[in-house]
Amino acid sequence: MGIDKNTFRAVMGSFAAGVTVVTVRDAHGHPKGFTATAVCSLSLEPPLLLVCVDHRSDSLPAMQEATAFAVNMLKHGQEELAARFASKGIDKFAVVDYSPGQLGAPILADVIAYAECSVKAKFPGGDHTIFVGEIEHAAAFEGQPLLYFRGQYGTVLPNPKVD
Ligand SMILES: Cc1cc2nc3c(=O)[nH]c(=O)nc-3n(C[C@H](O)[C@H](O)[C@H](O)COP(=O)(O)O)c2cc1C
Repeated sequence: MGIDKNTFRAVMGSFAAGVTVVTVRDAHGHPKGFTATAVCSLSLEPPLLLVCVDHRSDSLPAMQEATAFAVNMLKHGQEELAARFASKGIDKFAVVDYSPGQLGAPILADVIAYAECSVKAKFPGGDHTIFVGEIEHAAAFEGQPLLYFRGQYGTVLPNPKVD
C-alpha cells in the first residue's frame, strides 16, 4: 500500500545527509551539475559509491552518456553553492571556480572532499536512476561538512582531523 509523500519526506528528511554537488560533462563537453544528498558509500573493494538521479533532472542525459562523474562534498558555509546547483535554467558554472579532474569531470574548488568516478552500472530506482561509480581519484580536506536535515542546512560541532 505504501505511505504518502508527506510521510516519506518527513521520515527520509530525518535522515541527516551530507550535501554534495554531482558534476559531469555533457556530450559537447559542457559542465553540468546538481545538488544531491542521495549519495552513498557502497563498497570498499572495489571502491564504489552510488548516486540517485531524479528523472526530471536536466543533468540526467549527460549522466546517461558520460563515462565519468564527480561527487563534490560541500563544506559549512557553501549553502549558496548548494542552492545554485539545486536551481534550473541558469549557467550554474558561470561564477563557480572549478577545474577538470583526471577523468574530465568538473571538480569544484574549496570543497571538503571530492570523488571522481568512472561509471560502472546503472539501475532503475522508481522515479530515479541509480548510478554506481568506481572512485578513481579522490581527496579529503579539513573543514566542517554542510548537512541537510528536515529541509534546512546545518553542520556538526566536532572538527575531527582528516585521516
Ligand atoms: C538538499 C538537496 C538535495 C538534493 N538531492 C538530490 C538527489 O540526491 N538527486 C537528485 O536527482 N536531485 C536532488 N536534488 C534536486 C536537484 O538538485 C534539483 O532538482 C536540481 O535543480 C537539478 O538540476 P538539473 O535539472 O540542472 O540537473 C536535491 C536538492 C536539494 C536542495
